[in-house]
Amino acid sequence: MTKKHLIDPMDFSKEELEEIFNLAHQIIANPKEYSNVCDGKILATLFYEPSTRTRFSFEAAMMRLGGKILGFSEPNSSSTAKGETLADTITMVSIYADIIAMRHPKEGAARLASMYSEVPVINAGDGGHQHPTQTLTDLLTIKSLKEGLNNHVIGLCGDLKNGRTVHSLIKAMSRYEGTKFILISPKELSIPTYIREEVLLKNNVEFREVEKLEDVIEELDILYMTRIQKERFFNEEEYLRLKDSYILDVEKMKLAKDDMIVMHPLPRVNEIDIEVDKDKRASYFKQAEYGMYVRMALIAKLLEVV
Ligand code: CP
Repeated sequence: MTKKHLIDPMDFSKEELEEIFNLAHQIIANPKEYSNVCDGKILATLFYEPSTRTRFSFEAAMMRLGGKILGFSEPNSSSTAKGETLADTITMVSIYADIIAMRHPKEGAARLASMYSEVPVINAGDGGHQHPTQTLTDLLTIKSLKEGLNNHVIGLCGDLKNGRTVHSLIKAMSRYEGTKFILISPKELSIPTYIREEVLLKNNVEFREVEKLEDVIEELDILYMTRIQKERFFNEEEYLRLKDSYILDVEKMKLAKDDMIVMHPLPRVNEIDIEVDKDKRASYFKQAEYGMYVRMALIAKLLEVV
């Protein structure tokens, strides 16, 4: 692997992604073989925004590879609270750690960090922009549960305007043959123009935009639900009006194919009824588990320890 940082889902070629997915599968099959490959290495997790899965899975990944971790989950406990710039923080942390995973509310913050870092920087989410390691998680899930990454009809449902996981997944899946997207959202929360024009239209990817999940669920191979992102709304009334736009329940699942899988980057609020968890097609917790293994593979590749 020649790449130093992972900032955008397109930073890796399809071949490099295959290497990561193959390694993730090897780690799943034989975790003991990889339990010391990061001996002596340190991962810094710098989280300027809340997280459960991404931070814990990065930290669990490094510990399962035999490495150590440092970092913060609350920026006010760091010198950011005293006015230190991101550039200075990264300059310092890249002296202490061998690799950095960073989440930040500002779009472009991870790219900026990579310019000041002596060690690999992984974007763990930058504002409403991109979330490339969620995309690695999503691709590994699809590859593992749907026998490969080609020829899938993917329904993306919910807050497609603010959902960075959606933007990253559209970019990544647009490279695979036969991908067709059905974009399900209220008009107010439809995909950003740059995704529609610079990714979908520019690459001749088949897609259509609809407002009702019930109208299209029977066509889908993959249903990717997302939460309405309260923290990205400027107007609380608008959030309250839109927050329950979609609720996937047992009745709607009856309309879907027997082998459709339901994915969700999590956390969920109420867009998937908990009764759906019992359905064998509910794949979101398995997806989160794949997230840890794919991050193990990513860390190992970026540190060149395998
Ligand atoms: N999927 C995801 O990014 O979850 P967290 O916000 O809990 O990290």
